[in-house]
Amino acid sequence: MTEAPRSVFPLIAHAVALSAIVSLVGPTLTAADGKQVFGQRCAGCHGTDAKGTGKGPGLAGNPRLAGRSTEQLTSIVRQGFPDSGMPAFDLSVEELTAVAGYVRSLLAGATPEIPPAGKRVTWGQPQPGDWLTYNGKLDANRYSELREIDTGNVAQLRLKWIFPIPHFGLEVTPLEADGVMYVTGPNQVFAIDALTGSEIWHCARPRTAGLVGDAALGTNRGLAIRDDKVFFITDNAHLLALDRADGHLVWETVMPEEPQSYGGTLAPLVVNEKVFTGVSGADEGIRGFIACYHADTGKLIWRRWTIPRKGEPAAETWRGNEPLVGGGSTWLTGSYDAETDTLYWPTGNPYPDSEDAGRGGDNLYTDCILALNPNTGELKWHYQFTPHDLKDRDATEPPVLVDTPYQGKARKMLLHADRNGFFYVLDRTNGELLLAKAFLRRVDWASGIGADGRPQVVDPRGCPDDAANWSSTAYSPTTRLYYFLALEECVGRPLGYPDQTGQRFLRAVNIDTGNIVWEVPQPGPAKAKTWSGVLATAGGLVFYGQPNGGFAAVDARDGKTLWNFPTNVHMKASPMTFSVGRKQYVAVAAGPNILCFGL
Ligand code: HEC
Repeated sequence: MTEAPRSVFPLIAHAVALSAIVSLVGPTLTAADGKQVFGQRCAGCHGTDAKGTGKGPGLAGNPRLAGRSTEQLTSIVRQGFPDSGMPAFDLSVEELTAVAGYVRSLLAGATPEIPPAGKRVTWGQPQPGDWLTYNGKLDANRYSELREIDTGNVAQLRLKWIFPIPHFGLEVTPLEADGVMYVTGPNQVFAIDALTGSEIWHCARPRTAGLVGDAALGTNRGLAIRDDKVFFITDNAHLLALDRADGHLVWETVMPEEPQSYGGTLAPLVVNEKVFTGVSGADEGIRGFIACYHADTGKLIWRRWTIPRKGEPAAETWRGNEPLVGGGSTWLTGSYDAETDTLYWPTGNPYPDSEDAGRGGDNLYTDCILALNPNTGELKWHYQFTPHDLKDRDATEPPVLVDTPYQGKARKMLLHADRNGFFYVLDRTNGELLLAKAFLRRVDWASGIGADGRPQVVDPRGCPDDAANWSSTAYSPTTRLYYFLALEECVGRPLGYPDQTGQRFLRAVNIDTGNIVWEVPQPGPAKAKTWSGVLATAGGLVFYGQPNGGFAAVDARDGKTLWNFPTNVHMKASPMTFSVGRKQYVAVAAGPNILCFGL
């Protein structure tokens, strides 16, 4: 493995240049105008002298604001703090910039104060308008409470801006906080103004030579965020903490401790002061792990291997060769439940994926959900979807955490539509199987899942091929439906569809029965490897990407298509939604572009 230099993250020259900010300062408004806007719009609460009143804190010399960029102050004004008494302001860009510039001028000499953890930009309790983790929230539901865009007006949704990234097939889900959007490409991170799409900063380092697998393709799925930092994994599995204000490198940690073909592709997950990460590379023979680092320092807190070594628990599930490199990679972001303080992380296929000489047995902990103690990495329970996998059935579908009465009992559940073709409902407090049902018309590798939770295997190499994959899924508490993209595919065997290589469907599943309530057959080349995922909203909508490059919204209740935008490029990423200044937007990566839509 090639090691990238531990030097300062090189900044692309124009990136950090304040081009975005400078261009916002219209020719007409000056600092004096900023003072005037302040007098009219802000002084009533913050005082004419900006020293504060009973209705708002002092801003002059305020240590919480010291060091804040004009951009950050602008987004405070745009968003306000509706819950604690400051309205969101619908000012023009010129007025915003002028008033933010004026507030900045009042901060000269103030010493920055580190904001208390979880204050404004929080890690676990996002404001309804923010999208702070890969799956939106720690429960990975990909459900947003935003409802401005709804079934009645989605037809009016328009493209607001495009941000191009030089990479053919982006897989990133953007994050948004405080009016700034964070996106990634191969070894690249961009902060962009969420309202205009203009670049605020950009960090890049050269792609690592000699990598294999997805990391070599430049795949990256995004970031994690906490207070003043964003966390990013490089193609060669280094975890970086970057300063949110300007992208400078705060710390860097090399994740692997053994020289194997490790790659980095996933968005990390942040919970409190911990950053959880995983690695890719099972198809090239790695020993997978989940690792936890301290957000402030990058220091390793624990590492949990997904493949045991001789003498360790579960080593007996590998008969034959000592499994030095059994796969079990951890290449998709997990989820977290605060109430039981449990981390849930999915694992990938065993290595080699379709050859089992030298790996008799169940091959734990491949193709599993692992329930872990986030403080120690200790395993609370595991559930293996495909024991002794011979068909590359990674369990890297998002572990979706849902609390709702189930079969007459209040339950804490984990929903998961697996790559092996079965939809599962688990009790996430103990891993007990509550429901398993095929979500495809053709599943013949197993006749069902037994009461003991094990598949009743008929032919381990049977259908389907790629029923589901890492595509994001969503659960809406309003409809009680679980949404995902399913692929009816079994190469070499007729399926009864026009193209025997299969067809993709958007499906909505009733979680109580596992029955498909509605489905939308997907247009476009059946074989197109669209790995777009879904997003559900309180506006009654489900957004998703189609194999023909369409970006569509359907009615969450019945699947009726209400809106479709032809991106005409390959969609491999999942949509997200956010609000700034009380206006809702929907963003998605399509081909080499980030697209942002609003009413
Ligand atoms: C109706 C009262 C009100 C108005 C009008 C108002 N604010 Fe505020 N502002 C507040 C309150 C209350 C807070 C504290 C919110 C919190 O800490 O959660 C605040 C916080 C802030 C902060 C962050 C301060 C900190 O300590 O973190 C900034 C910056 C700010 N306001 C700027 C402005 C500007 C600029 C305007 C005018 C465009 C403005 N505010 C108008 C009530 C107001």
